[in-house]
Amino acid sequence: SSGMGMEEVLRAELGSLEGIPLFKIFLEGWPQVKAFQARPDDLLVATYPKSGTTWLSEILDMIYHDGDVEKCRRDSIVNRVPFLELKSPLIPSGVEKLEKMPSPRLVKTHLPVQLLPTSFWDKNCKVIYMARNAKDVVISYYYFYQMAKIHPDPGTLPDFLNTFMAGKVAYGSWYDHVRGWWDKRHEKQILYLFYEDMKKNPRQELQKILKFLGKEMSEETVERILHHTSFQEMKKNPAANYETVPTALMDHNVSPFLRKGISGDWKNHFTVAQNELFNQHYKEHMAGTDLCFEMEE
Ligand code: A3P
Repeated sequence: SSGMGMEEVLRAELGSLEGIPLFKIFLEGWPQVKAFQARPDDLLVATYPKSGTTWLSEILDMIYHDGDVEKCRRDSIVNRVPFLELKSPLIPSGVEKLEKMPSPRLVKTHLPVQLLPTSFWDKNCKVIYMARNAKDVVISYYYFYQMAKIHPDPGTLPDFLNTFMAGKVAYGSWYDHVRGWWDKRHEKQILYLFYEDMKKNPRQELQKILKFLGKEMSEETVERILHHTSFQEMKKNPAANYETVPTALMDHNVSPFLRKGISGDWKNHFTVAQNELFNQHYKEHMAGTDLCFEMEE
């Protein structure tokens, strides 16, 4: 565990890791993360925050357990798919959890591609990246900042939109993150998925994952996985909905971790003026890439 206590962590200002804004307590654990020893059969779940990490993690754990719902209730998602760079008072770090874990391991990270510990590349590990459109991410992140008190106070939504556009939220610029992983995808074993596709056609996306992992599965098992990983099922599943995390760190009364689980919720939040501003900024920061998102202007 850490030298920093709870009171130093809650609502603390972010530090900086090689130019990327990040929780100061995570920086304390960085030497261990940087030196992390991946295993060839590790599967990495990589995302920008609020892009469907938990959803993808639950799907993968179900695949790894052949659709056995009971086995996937054995523990909280935070222990079944440890968070690589996590460091927090009172609980073991991500690296500590992973070192004790038998193979094959599922590993979660939000690191931008340039900060991924090199061992994952050296061991040629498979990576599944999931991206979500910027407008829904910023709204989801705004609510998450409010309920997860390791973040600084988000201020008002207009404040937070500015912080997000400036890349001053935890994990930095969404643009750099999604583009960085996109540009790497042909070089390495990376499956690049989209939250919006997963919402629209979960069966098709699940088939992509199975193909990428070289796994065959009966129609019945596929059906069971799709049902168990639906928003409604995950929302009421204590092993998937983060309710076991201490309230001091995550207050679900402020906003539940599984909040809405839809595409396009930004339309309920952005004003016309905010949307125009955001679109202009978006165009500038996505110039020159063939990476496209569905967000229905
Ligand atoms: P909202 O805040 O828009 O509801 P992450 O796991 O990366 O932190 O992402 C959290 C977001 O994914 C939240 O978005 C959450 O509701 C959504 N989510 C989690 N499980 C989901 C599921 N099974 N189906 C759809 N969305 C899901």
